[in-house]
Amino acid sequence: MTTDALPMAVPAAGLPARVRIHEVGARDGLQNEKATVPTEVKAEFVRRLAEAGLTTIEATSFVHPKWVPQLADAERLYPLVASLPVALPVLVPNERGLDRALGLGARRVAVFASATESFAKANLNRTVDEALAMFEPVVARAKAEGLHVRGYLSMCFGDPWEGPVPLPQVVRVCRALLDQGCDELSLGDTIGVATPGHVTALLAALEEAGVPVGALGVHFHDTYGQALANTLAALQHGVTTVDASAGGLGGCPYAKSATGNLATEDLVWMLRGLGIDTGVDLGRLVATSVWMAERLGRPSPSRTVRALAPTVASPASHKEQ
Ligand code: HMG
Ligand code: MG
Repeated sequence: MTTDALPMAVPAAGLPARVRIHEVGARDGLQNEKATVPTEVKAEFVRRLAEAGLTTIEATSFVHPKWVPQLADAERLYPLVASLPVALPVLVPNERGLDRALGLGARRVAVFASATESFAKANLNRTVDEALAMFEPVVARAKAEGLHVRGYLSMCFGDPWEGPVPLPQVVRVCRALLDQGCDELSLGDTIGVATPGHVTALLAALEEAGVPVGALGVHFHDTYGQALANTLAALQHGVTTVDASAGGLGGCPYAKSATGNLATEDLVWMLRGLGIDTGVDLGRLVATSVWMAERLGRPSPSRTVRALAPTVASPASHKEQ
């Protein structure tokens, strides 16, 4: 079987014709690795993701290096990938992070808020409102510089310390991020506890609060195997931006029980089956994740990568690592 043969495309009613995948493997995936991944390997990973057809590839974070040591090489990594013909968003928690990103010519940044107090404290050393106050000048300056700004919102469905998260609590922070000037929001299920009905309920609550669905992306972690079902629920509600991580890499160093993101390959497989265009070459993507898994010394948790790995040849590399 070749990767082009399956799945058969059988469109379903009420779904978008095209989905933009926001690839987070190099950031959300690698931030959680115990072993240090060499900067040149990360750069090669990003290059291969671009060659596989991904057009938005989150490259790294300009956060405090002591908080996320795995991404402490952001200043060395970004210039290695900056000339790729893709969008390369980077995370910036504060003005110091924005200065670092602007200094390297970044054109897309993301701030990252929390719907819960516990995670805001653990991840940003701030209350929810203190974090929003920290982002305000970041978003304002970034917009004044003509940058595209994404606003992440973590713990939209459940929190490891606080349990289920009330919808109005999520809606309030989404509104605040949009009102600050964020161009798009990404709704994070940081610990993977969402289920499809919950996704639909949150999207309906946001719609009722005047948040346009076109400004929303979804960011599912696959802890309980619900990420694809949740994605389908979001697509049915009109969402067309989906975050995913090549090979299912990932987690969050500041959230107990966060596992990998929805694997990009699993997402592409489902979207292909639904006849939804992503522009991604699945064979090249699987080969990239197999290559990365070899560098990390463990197999990818993605079901699609495991199923297709024997069928793909390693793509021609720029520089074999
Ligand atoms: P803090 O300790 O409160 O920092 O951390 P501060 O503001 O008090 O500053 C202390 C020192 O850090 C100062 O240096 C600053 O200059 C320096 P000193 O004056 O003492 O020498 N500093 C920085 N240095 C480099 N880059 C910076 C920076 N900022 C301050 N940007 C801080 C606050 C926000 C910095 C810290 O909490 C932090 O870096 N947190 C990042 C945590 C993180 O990256 N988590 C993972 C990403 S979020 C995620 O994965 C979820 C997501 O995937 C969605 C989902 O799944 O839900 C997005
Ligand atoms: Mg995440």
